[in-house]
Amino acid sequence: MRVAPKEIQSFRDDFTYTNSAAAIERFPFPFPEDEYRYSVNIEAHQPKGGEGSAFEHYIDIDEHYLSEMAERELVLKDMPNRCLVMEHMDLACWEMLERYMVSLAEDYPEHFTLTRDGDSWRWENKLLHIDDHFTFGDSATLPRPPLDYIGRQVQGDFALMDQREGNLFMDAGMVTCPADWSLAFDAGMSFDEWHGPVPMVHNEGIIDRARKYLMALPVGQPVRRLNWTLTVNARMDTSSETYNEWGHERASITPENVGEKIYLRVEVQVLDRMPRSNAVTISIRTYLLSLEDLVTNKAWAVRMHRTMKTLPEALIHYKGLTRFHGMVVDYLAQFDPAN
Ligand code: HEM
Repeated sequence: MRVAPKEIQSFRDDFTYTNSAAAIERFPFPFPEDEYRYSVNIEAHQPKGGEGSAFEHYIDIDEHYLSEMAERELVLKDMPNRCLVMEHMDLACWEMLERYMVSLAEDYPEHFTLTRDGDSWRWENKLLHIDDHFTFGDSATLPRPPLDYIGRQVQGDFALMDQREGNLFMDAGMVTCPADWSLAFDAGMSFDEWHGPVPMVHNEGIIDRARKYLMALPVGQPVRRLNWTLTVNARMDTSSETYNEWGHERASITPENVGEKIYLRVEVQVLDRMPRSNAVTISIRTYLLSLEDLVTNKAWAVRMHRTMKTLPEALIHYKGLTRFHGMVVDYLAQFDPAN
């Protein structure tokens, strides 16, 4: 199965979200070793894993496409400031739109078509029944400004960084499914400032090295890294803004429901240099998999147990796992023969 977007499922209220067997198989499991530590885990964003893999294309469109786009609409309707663009980022947003439209049309011709005649463009998105003609670079000819327009048609969150004064600044973005952070809070901050709360990385020089690496990122050589956390329920929007809606759910975990209610949340982050503006874009694509589904893969179950068991206290706390981490380890122990 390459792409067969399912009917719309929910990431809130009744949480009807499910993963098919094919989606479980292609889940980007993030742990290469039995112990997890923070690192500058960057690799070239090249195809890996063959046809149908989450790393087959520049942008991964999967069975959750319609559900994630519907969820994004709900968030933006409530909180339009989940999409923020500073004026000097307009060119970068157009470049991102171009990069995304070109790669979607190339990689998924059955769903997306881009026709270009100079600056006169036609964009067709058959999944969302969109067919628009516009002039590239002229926001007045699109139904919405470029980032707002393309962001509503691509799974994942997006931030665009301006490079100046020896740093990267988060000066634009669309962030509707973050793992406990806020675009409105971080907007305008530098790479070092928004990473301020992360434990352990500063002494180890990880943030310094990552920033230097990204500032030297060449055009046309995108890279990716994986990050992860655990989320209660299949909730996409765990933003700081809505903490009052989801924070208390951390106390709802019991030994009986932990396998069903705790989800491994993996972010595939793709970083890319835009050629004209010199901005760096990041797409943060979130995948959710319940522990119950995860342990259907025996190797993952064992690895997950060992990484969770040896997770440093500072990470357990920072990632917000304190209330249920012990229950996760106990649940996973039954799948580890070495236990
Ligand atoms: C958090 C590393 C790039 C935005 C983190 C964390 C690490 C990290 C280790 C803690 C995550 C956790 O435990 O869940 C890196 C490295 C990067 C990188 C090595 C190099 C490529 C970026 C970029 C952005 C970003 C380009 C731009 C959006 C964030 C945010 C947080 C975070 C918003 C949450 C911070 C908070 O607690 O408020 N990063 N990061 N990171 N990262 Fe990065």
